[in-house]
Order: sequence, then structure tokens, then C-alpha cells
Amino acid sequence: MKLGVLVSGTGTNLQALLDAEARGELAPGEIAVVVSNRPGVPALARATAAGKPAEAVDHKQFAERRAFEDRLLAVLAARGVEAVVLAGFMRVLTAHFVEKFPLRVVNTHPSLLPAFPGVDGPAQAIAYGVKVAGVTIHFVDTSLDGGPIIAQVAVPVAPGDDAAALHARIQREEHRLLPQVVQRLAAGRYTCEGRRVVERAE
Ligand code: GRF
Repeated sequence: MKLGVLVSGTGTNLQALLDAEARGELAPGEIAVVVSNRPGVPALARATAAGKPAEAVDHKQFAERRAFEDRLLAVLAARGVEAVVLAGFMRVLTAHFVEKFPLRVVNTHPSLLPAFPGVDGPAQAIAYGVKVAGVTIHFVDTSLDGGPIIAQVAVPVAPGDDAAALHARIQREEHRLLPQVVQRLAAGRYTCEGRRVVERAE
């Protein structure tokens, strides 16, 4: 299954996907293209270094969100993309985009959803004082980080953690979990019963 990975920045999650693919651990998933809404970010360089097509679609060049999404859709369609992974992609997608890929768009978020959606999940967790944080991989719908939950891993908050230290600990789990979920998505192992994601055994 051809995958499009959407990014906005550093791209450590993209790197985890690229490394998993290089080890043969993403099949039948195959990264067909990497697209960033911000030009010149490290994530695009990571894609190029791995020999993957990498394109910037700068949202600032589009007056309307729909035109931005149409361009994204065109880039993905040109590469035959069937499923989309949001790996640190910092734009909200509308129904116009999401409905083109039913149960085929996933996002990774650095909190135990439904706690702390939106930006700065780790900073929100520190400010709230929770003792357990974590990572959530979920299907994307039109809500903000509110789609059906596919997988979660809990991560302890250590005394003295700041947001950066907690985020780093969360990312170690995120980099393991995301490729695993993407492989299973590509293998068609997930279905939804209402909000509940059900995983078929291999
Ligand atoms: C990740 O922690 C992800 O959960 C969040 O943004 C961060 C992106 O990091 N949505 P990177 O660009 O993959 O390094």
C-alpha cells in the first residue's frame, strides 16, 4: 500500500518510518512521497536522503484552505497514495481532504488522548501535573486530535521533567509505535466499530 507522509518540521517520526521501511518492517506499506507544508524543513532532507520523493506545499501560498488541500491531494494522487500518515504535520485537515481517505489517515500525538489535544501536549501535561503521559496514534477525522484511537503507550512523568524532557521520553515510544501501527494499517488489519478500533489478528 502506497503511503504519503505529511510533515512540518524536524521529522524524527518520518525517520522512524524510513528506518522501519529500510529494515523491511513496513511492508506491505511503502512510503511513496513525503510532503511538507513548510519549505526547507529537516524532514524534507531526511526524505531526500532516503531516496524518497519530497515536496513542499506551502500553505502560506494559498488564500483558501481548500486550495491548499487540493494541491496536497494532487501531489498524493500523482504518487498513487492510498493512505496518509501525519507525522508532526501541524495543519488541521478539513473534511474535504479526510473524506478522500476513509480510515486511511492516521496521526501521532504526544499525549494520552483525549487528554491534552492540540499543540504542546507534553507542556500541557507538565502544567496540569499528571503523573503519566504518553503517545496516541489515532485515525484522523475533522475534530482536533479526536478521531478513533488505534494505539497508545503510557510514559511516566519524572519529577523535575520539563516539557522538552517529557517530550523526548514520549518520542522514544512514539518512534517504536508509529511504524508498527502504519505496518498494520497497510496490512488492512484495522476496522472501526463506532469509535472502537478493532484489530484483526494476523
Ligand atoms: C511529534 O511528537 C508528534 O507527536 C507531534 O509533533 C511531533 C513531531 O516531531 N504531532 P517530529 O517532526 O516527528 O520530530
